[in-house]
Amino acid sequence: MKTALPPSEAVTVDLADPGFLQDPLPVFDQLREHAPVHWDERTACWLISRHEDAAAVLKDRERFGADLHQITGYTESRPFGAGSAIEATMEGGYLFKDRPDHTRLRRVTAARFTRPQVEREWATAIGRIVEDLLDSITPDQPVDLLRELAVALPQRVMAALFQLPQEDAEQLKQWAVDFGHALDPGPSAEQIALAESAADGMNRYFLEKANARYGQPGDDLISMVTAAHQQGSLRSDAEVVNQLTTIVVAGTETTSTLICGAFESLERHPGQWERLRGHPDLVGPAVEEFLRYVSPAALAGRVALTDVRLGGHTIRKGDAVQVVLMAANRDPDVFENPGALDIGRSPNPHLAFGGGIHTCVGSHLARLEARIVFAKASRRWKRVRVDLDGVRRLGRIGVWGYGDFPVTVESA
Ligand code: HEM
Repeated sequence: MKTALPPSEAVTVDLADPGFLQDPLPVFDQLREHAPVHWDERTACWLISRHEDAAAVLKDRERFGADLHQITGYTESRPFGAGSAIEATMEGGYLFKDRPDHTRLRRVTAARFTRPQVEREWATAIGRIVEDLLDSITPDQPVDLLRELAVALPQRVMAALFQLPQEDAEQLKQWAVDFGHALDPGPSAEQIALAESAADGMNRYFLEKANARYGQPGDDLISMVTAAHQQGSLRSDAEVVNQLTTIVVAGTETTSTLICGAFESLERHPGQWERLRGHPDLVGPAVEEFLRYVSPAALAGRVALTDVRLGGHTIRKGDAVQVVLMAANRDPDVFENPGALDIGRSPNPHLAFGGGIHTCVGSHLARLEARIVFAKASRRWKRVRVDLDGVRRLGRIGVWGYGDFPVTVESA
């Protein structure tokens, strides 16, 4: 039974509070129950936390857009600094574009990420990478699973997607993590400085790599993007570069967080690992449950394109909105016993990949990576003991992540 509703003002949210950033769920649960459409004064945005409202906002491309310039005062305030590398990266990427530009830009690489294409192109290669990474983890000795597996896997996949040297992938990962700070609502000056340096580094790097591909194309993603430029679907160097930075930023830390978050949730729910080991066919639903439970991208930003009535409030045209995917994924109106990890949960209509026209391009790749990790790890390891006291989260919320993830594995 739900508790009596206090007035929405009684729910206090501070998206920058260190305690909240370490453990946002209690606050999100409060919000969803008592103030599902909530104006956050500090970051000047609406927080939408019920599953039904979240799904509706994500799908409603007539009334909600993603173009930051539609936010009241954005063009005058330019929060990232006029002409900054962050601004160029965000505004040129299709995550922040509405139709028709969004359709034109997303189409450039989307065909490469369909489920059949991803399975055909990547299943074997990812299988090999995962075997290799698991081989390097010695049983019965403490190991940082974040570095050795969760970061290393998407890093190697990115290097292969772009056909870049492994050493460069390490740098790309760091840029992606640093740039992620700009995606938090109301980032601090230090966060912006870190993200600016990352955006500048990434933009220069990809421009140089793209320029080298015009004369010598391969079948990698950079060549696909430069070909689109030559054919006129992309109209500037900035659009070329932003295709690539969007994939790196959106696809690196999210995947690492899913893998570690899944192992953390398994540690906290005894019995589910054994269940997976006993029923390898559950790996597909298990990964969907990890996605719901972990919600690596906790928020998806939008802007109201017109006045919208929602949950008894009027969201004004030009107001910024954050769809709280992490809260929607724990909505008891949709998920029975939402705080429990149930690797057989079905149906599982989670919103971890967003929804509507911006639904994650890389969802099938991320799913494949996770399915292979959990299929192979559950075959090899009888137990993965996560040292919960040693687990460190980075203090971020938009795309949240881990700093350390110590574990000890036991061979089967
Ligand atoms: C577990 C891993 C991942 C999660 C949880 C995730 C989550 C998301 C979410 C929630 C969005 C929508 C954001 C919005 O509506 O504002 C998104 C968009 C996107 N994702 Fe992912 N993602 C993951 C992995 C990947 C990977 C591996 C790639 C690429 C290789 C990728 C590429 C993208 C791109 C390009 C977009 C922008 C789509 C658009 O605006 O049309 N993601 N992702």
